[in-house]
Amino acid sequence: MIQVQDLTFTYPKNVEPTIQDINVSIDEGEIFGFLGPSGAGKSTLQKILIGVLKGYKGDVTVLHHKVKHTDFYNRLGVAFETPNFYQKFTAAENLQFFQSFYRKNRLDGKELMAKMGLSDAYHTRVSEFSKGMKMRLNLCRAFLHDPELIFLDEPTSGLDPVNVKKVKDFILEKKAQGKTIILNTHNMSVAEELCDRVAFIVDGSVKLVESPNVLKKQYSEKTVTVVYESDGVERSEQFELKKLGQQTTFQTILERDQIIKIETEEKTLEDIFIAVTGRNLQ
Ligand SMILES: Nc1ncnc2c1ncn2[C@@H]1O[C@H](COP(=O)(O)OP(=O)(O)OP(=O)(O)O)[C@@H](O)[C@H]1O
Ligand SMILES: [Mg+2]
Repeated sequence: MIQVQDLTFTYPKNVEPTIQDINVSIDEGEIFGFLGPSGAGKSTLQKILIGVLKGYKGDVTVLHHKVKHTDFYNRLGVAFETPNFYQKFTAAENLQFFQSFYRKNRLDGKELMAKMGLSDAYHTRVSEFSKGMKMRLNLCRAFLHDPELIFLDEPTSGLDPVNVKKVKDFILEKKAQGKTIILNTHNMSVAEELCDRVAFIVDGSVKLVESPNVLKKQYSEKTVTVVYESDGVERSEQFELKKLGQQTTFQTILERDQIIKIETEEKTLEDIFIAVTGRNLQ
């Protein structure tokens, strides 16, 4: 779906490149996440992929062709990080206006809004929307013309947990329909739950591309911690996961003591990001 080879980009007024030598390939039907701290170059990369920024070095192929070929914007949906609507128009008027740019497969804006919990706001002026409502309307707009490839820049930014869940479910529903979704985020739990693969991006370079599950297996401690009560005192002991069955002490604790909890050490994607890049996400 997307092929990026040796991509380097420098903003016209800058000396240093913002994107440096990025190579990445994204398959059809994937949810692919670009994860990185503020200023890493996620939005810049997205703008190159959707044909907004030109003057880059390297090769970029999107939807099997060079960027901005015929029909490009009919097949592509974008939610930019800052929602941009006509404030004096209602949500319905905004969606109808944006829909008029596209020629095919138009989805029902009202239905999309219902999925985002915005049913009651269909005829409300956007100026009366909260920030979180605008974010969700922004997401509806990206899917309006039923595109096959969708770029979402920080789709859950500023949303409460209930609405984050709605957005996640919606994205998964679209994946099930065969859509390819590119997600920029610094929300690791969103990336962990949604993405088939993630790219860690720092200072304009991709440090690693892998599936969150594989990363978690690779980086997680291979130990089990047993917390138990013995002679009225709380104690804990660690065992190697691999040889657990042969650990006589482990067996004895299970038989003899009051078990409080048994847990394996799971690294979060955020822990792994820090381990790989040496950088925090915030
Ligand atoms: N129009 C511009 N002209 C010059 N430099 C820019 C421009 N837009 C962004 N930059 C710089 O490029 C770098 C990457 O910015 P970008 O917006 O791509 O980061 P990001 O990873 O999307 O960050 P965030 O998580 O905050 O959205 C930053 O150092 C930023 O200052
Ligand atoms: Mg950004």
